Amino acid sequence: MKSHSSKDGSKASASPGKARWRRARPSKFQSAPGAANSNSAAVQSAPKDGAATPAEGRAAGRRSAAKKPILKTLDRAISKAGIASRTEAQRWIAQGRVKVNGKTTKDAEHWVDLKRDRILLDGRPVEAQEKVYLLLYKPKGYLTTRTDPDGRPTIYDLLNGVKQWVFPVGRLDQDTSGLLILTNDSGLAEHLTNPDYHVPKTYLVKAAHVLTDEQLESMRQGVELKDGPTRPAEVRRLRDSGQRTFFEITITEGRNRQVRRMVEEAGSKVLKLVRVSIGPLRIGPLQIGHVRHIDPAELRALRHSGRRQGGAGAG
Ligand code: URA
Repeated sequence: MKSHSSKDGSKASASPGKARWRRARPSKFQSAPGAANSNSAAVQSAPKDGAATPAEGRAAGRRSAAKKPILKTLDRAISKAGIASRTEAQRWIAQGRVKVNGKTTKDAEHWVDLKRDRILLDGRPVEAQEKVYLLLYKPKGYLTTRTDPDGRPTIYDLLNGVKQWVFPVGRLDQDTSGLLILTNDSGLAEHLTNPDYHVPKTYLVKAAHVLTDEQLESMRQGVELKDGPTRPAEVRRLRDSGQRTFFEITITEGRNRQVRRMVEEAGSKVLKLVRVSIGPLRIGPLQIGHVRHIDPAELRALRHSGRRQGGAGAG
């Protein structure tokens, strides 16, 4: 896909127009130095022979932890393995494609012990997949969904070279472009999308009017939306140009169309919206429509981003 710089300096897709309806394309993988798939499975080392008493204690602790069952419902166990969403797993279970210890079960709520129970899907063992972490520069015009009944392009059309099952962490509207993380790691997704962690997400906005300081301040303080007041946000005017204001906003929630609704509540309209960062992860020089692996240092930083407790303030 062609990309060009718009007047505000941010990248914009060439108007999708009819091209919007094009189907699958080869994925544009951009490699990042040091990027790699990282397997997050922890490998525990066995206690050494002749270990001192505290080490023996720790080893005993590990042994007793190893005996503890890890209980999950069947749909969750399949999704945790990183091969499907829970909804998809529930469908497979209902279709009778899943066996637990040799017996077909159609109950997605059936409890299984990940350490002991043998789960088969279509006769093949369900095994934890290697974790994969991708950053996609989503272009405008693409849906953040797997398939669209109307045949519109989806983000998966941009991922043809990706073999593993991955899902998007949160959503970007069809008309929003920018940084989208895709992974099969539901733990990381939960961390990044649960508002309790306050992970900041930053957007560049082109508004339909020149906004006053008061309008920007209202978004900074938090505006009243129909699903409740927004948390205080960081808002920075970048420039006014003709009849438009360009500004940057950082929010720590991820409600549906939140930025667009905030701008409307402040009395204007979004003409263009680009997500440029999630926590410490920036879109950087990645080209629009391209995807790359998130490197191990970025991944560590993402895992430590945000904060756990409630309270006000972006970041
Ligand atoms: N806010 C919006 O309005 N749209 C998005 O896609 C993301 C945040």
